[in-house]
Amino acid sequence: MRIILFSGKGGVGKTTISASTGYKLSKLGYRVIVVSLDPAHSLADAFDIPDEEKFKAGGLPIRINDNLFIQEIDIQEEIDRYWGDVYRFLELLFNTTGLDEVLAEELAILPGMEEVTSLLYVNKYYREKEFDVLILDLPPTGESLRFVSMPTVLKWYMKKIFKTERMVMKVARPVVGRLTDVPLPDESYFKALENFYEKLKGVDEILIDPQITSVRLVSNPEKMVIKESQRAFMYFNLFGVNVDGVIVNKIIPADAGDCSYLKKWIDIQRKYVEKIEDYFSPVPVFKVPLLEEEVFGTQRLEVLSDLIYGDRDPSEVFFKERPYEFIERDGEYLIKIRAPFVKKDTVSLLKGEDEVVVRVGNFKSHILLPRKLRKLEPKGAKIEDGYIFVRLGEA
Ligand SMILES: Nc1ncnc2c1ncn2[C@@H]1O[C@H](COP(=O)(O)OP(=O)(O)OP(=O)(O)O)[C@@H](O)[C@H]1O
Ligand SMILES: [Mg+2]
Repeated sequence: MRIILFSGKGGVGKTTISASTGYKLSKLGYRVIVVSLDPAHSLADAFDIPDEEKFKAGGLPIRINDNLFIQEIDIQEEIDRYWGDVYRFLELLFNTTGLDEVLAEELAILPGMEEVTSLLYVNKYYREKEFDVLILDLPPTGESLRFVSMPTVLKWYMKKIFKTERMVMKVARPVVGRLTDVPLPDESYFKALENFYEKLKGVDEILIDPQITSVRLVSNPEKMVIKESQRAFMYFNLFGVNVDGVIVNKIIPADAGDCSYLKKWIDIQRKYVEKIEDYFSPVPVFKVPLLEEEVFGTQRLEVLSDLIYGDRDPSEVFFKERPYEFIERDGEYLIKIRAPFVKKDTVSLLKGEDEVVVRVGNFKSHILLPRKLRKLEPKGAKIEDGYIFVRLGEA
């Protein structure tokens, strides 16, 4: 099975491109499900599904054609369906602490629940093998990153906290229960958590297997958007999730018109597109024009998918190497950059505000530093077995 995640800043075209990729794959004969985790749900709109049908689906899959289903996850429904015991406990807890019912219900949706719920779906569809391709239309970048980091966080939680918390409860319940009105979680709460954990097992391996999972970053030729794509790229890299493409969407075609206003925009965008190719190389960059109108309905989705992928099969793994990684060796941090074509030469290093620019001959790479390493300066570099190693140290 292939899992393709579309991530990017708000409004760049994630939902449209997820829909259009799904549609093309279904036409190629793959069985596809496109799942949207975006609370603002517009996936069904991209397919022009009437509201009544959306409501009737209640967060379950909607059939588009024989091969294609779409699903807009409804977090409230999911909670009723799966989170029952955990949720009821939290609701009770917030209720007893004097909050009104509506607010208590709202608060009981823990941060991260959306992400966890989506991970459950990833695992479910992966295990059931009903579909050949699962496409995830992720919410804007920040939450996407929470999504890929969630398995690690959960693992930690289950290992470190869960066992202790449960033991403490066994001892504390008889005592504390008598002293206060605040409810304590009972065994069903822990059972529910355990059950969950069981359902999530293996999802982290699925996400970091480049043969299965790809992230495609959707971007626009705009300064702020590019910056965010770069940041997302770095984080997905850190988590070991393979980014196999960058899709630059909404490029005004060069022949769009003669007026000076448009020409100026075309010019600005061209520069940003070049920048993007520079930043993300060697990851393939797909350039997609801004269409004359919004992209709704299967006909336009198909037009768009042809513009994105041409003759290529969207389920291909377009790129599989990790372009760079941060490694710690003897208390020192190194950036290890894949550069198979780079000859032995002098490496020039430059430190920007939060990035390191590495240049060797005509190879150039911009690497955004994670927060922890941001203050460090590049201290030197060497080329070894197709990799450039950059040493980082205190300024
Ligand atoms: N290449 C394109 N040409 C013309 N219109 C486009 C193109 N790509 C996207 N759009 C339009 O841009 C709008 C935003 O797209 P979309 O909803 O897919 O973005 P998104 O990244 O999912 O946004 P959000 O972060 O709010 O979920 C939609 O109206 C869509 O039809
Ligand atoms: Mg969207």
